[in-house]
Amino acid sequence: MVVISRVFRSSIGRKTTMALTGAALVLFLFAHLSGNLLLFAGQDAMNAYGVTLRQFPILLWVARIGLIVVFVTHVVIGTLLTIENRRARPERYHNQKSIQSTPASRSMMITGLLLLAYLVYHLLHFTLGETHSQYFNLTDAQGRHDIYSMVVLSFQQWPISVAYIIAMGLLAFHLSHGIPSLFQSIGWNGPRFMPLLSKLGLAIAVLLLLGYISIPVAVLSGIIGLP
Ligand code: HEM
Repeated sequence: MVVISRVFRSSIGRKTTMALTGAALVLFLFAHLSGNLLLFAGQDAMNAYGVTLRQFPILLWVARIGLIVVFVTHVVIGTLLTIENRRARPERYHNQKSIQSTPASRSMMITGLLLLAYLVYHLLHFTLGETHSQYFNLTDAQGRHDIYSMVVLSFQQWPISVAYIIAMGLLAFHLSHGIPSLFQSIGWNGPRFMPLLSKLGLAIAVLLLLGYISIPVAVLSGIIGLP
């Protein structure tokens, strides 16, 4: 407990925590995307994946709780750092910045909060079935939770698809600054590294963006449809 409170009280500790939790969330995004892309393989592959995830409920809950702890830590520390930076006089940091101030860097807090709102909606939609519940309680011919039809029927409604596409755009914008800044926080901030890391951040953000939006786009254009 004492160690945790010391880490959170030091500025370097907070930045390192942001970097590590950010990296864990990016890894989650890749894992989640690879599962979601099974939609392109059809109903059986997608629903079988859902069953596999639930075969080890203890592991699933450990992963979920880990994800919640990482996410909440990222949001709380990110908010504290933003408040701290706003309170600090600008000239204090003037010469220390190795990542240039960009629209993405200046809007990290607002894109982060919008992503939080998106995530609440997303969990109510696909995990809890509270919004659009008409698509949630479906089962396939083998009696499995029909994740495939739930996603397809949802994204066939263009307002839902548009909301997801906008959220994915915000996510990419957030990551385009978050990823290079993550490396900076762990000390990779030399003048030779930064331009390269900024490009890497942008490339990862664009890759995730294209991967995630390919799903609503494929449903809207009829490439993925009901079985
Ligand atoms: C096209 C985009 C996306 C699709 C089709 C999608 C699909 C899904 C589905 C079907 C579930 C429920 C899984 C299940 O109950 O077995 C789910 C859960 C979840 N999604 Fe997404 N997702 C998308 C984007 C995202 C993004 C961008 C994030 C993060 C910012 C995200 C975070 C989560 C989380 C945290 C869960 C809960 C995991 C759990 O229940 O264990 N998703 N998603």
